[in-house]
Amino acid sequence: MDAIECIRTRQSIRKFMQDTVPAEKLLSVIETARWSPSYKNSQPWEVVLVSGSRKEELTKMLSDLLESGEPPCPDIPEPLSWPPEIDARIADLMKKRSELTGMDLTSPEIRRKSKLANFAFYRAPHGIFIFQDGALKEWSILDLGMFCQSLMLAAHASGLGTVPQAFLTDYSRQTKEFLGIPAGKRLCLGMSIGYPDMASPANQFRTDRVKTETILRVIE
Ligand SMILES: Cc1cc2nc3c(=O)[nH]c(=O)nc-3n(C[C@H](O)[C@H](O)[C@H](O)COP(=O)(O)O)c2cc1C
Repeated sequence: MDAIECIRTRQSIRKFMQDTVPAEKLLSVIETARWSPSYKNSQPWEVVLVSGSRKEELTKMLSDLLESGEPPCPDIPEPLSWPPEIDARIADLMKKRSELTGMDLTSPEIRRKSKLANFAFYRAPHGIFIFQDGALKEWSILDLGMFCQSLMLAAHASGLGTVPQAFLTDYSRQTKEFLGIPAGKRLCLGMSIGYPDMASPANQFRTDRVKTETILRVIE
């Protein structure tokens, strides 16, 4: 698959096969992602890969926190509001996914269930957490976004599926404690990774994009 096809066919995967991925394959994906560009080649990324019983324990910890009513406290706060045109895109996604699943994804109960599915890594055999030093500024979060996209594209090119998950940062403090990561690190994103179950209805949904002319202004 060439780079264009890889970018165009990657999609968020929300149902995985149960087979574990060989360590060398996972390592090779991370090794490739290291080649992402970063401000002054600062490479402000640190990765934790969690599998097996420790992943199951982490799922239980996050689910218990949610069920106990613990308020989320992500290192990067969830936006409380969005500019109107962005808000409309989010509403469109929610509407389409609600129609497809037959569930109102904006209802608190479905949101709770959705968080539990996120905390269970959509049943993927492996989870990834991406950190950086908490003292780093906005440019470094941009670098991290590039790293994450490289990682997801490298995974896709290797026959693996991923989904980036802000929800996996809900309980940043507890997650860092669990993973043995110093409190001063910023937990930026979680991810599930494994072989995608492409026959599952969960993976049939494809998002669309706004037209190029909506986002591009050519000046000459
Ligand atoms: C920073 C970021 C956070 C996201 N958080 C979540 C999440 O918590 N749970 C989830 O299921 N998907 C999450 N997504 C996936 C988006 O919903 C998805 O990328 C978007 O709808 C476009 O679909 P696609 O990835 O299939 O192209 C996140 C994506 C990004 C980039």
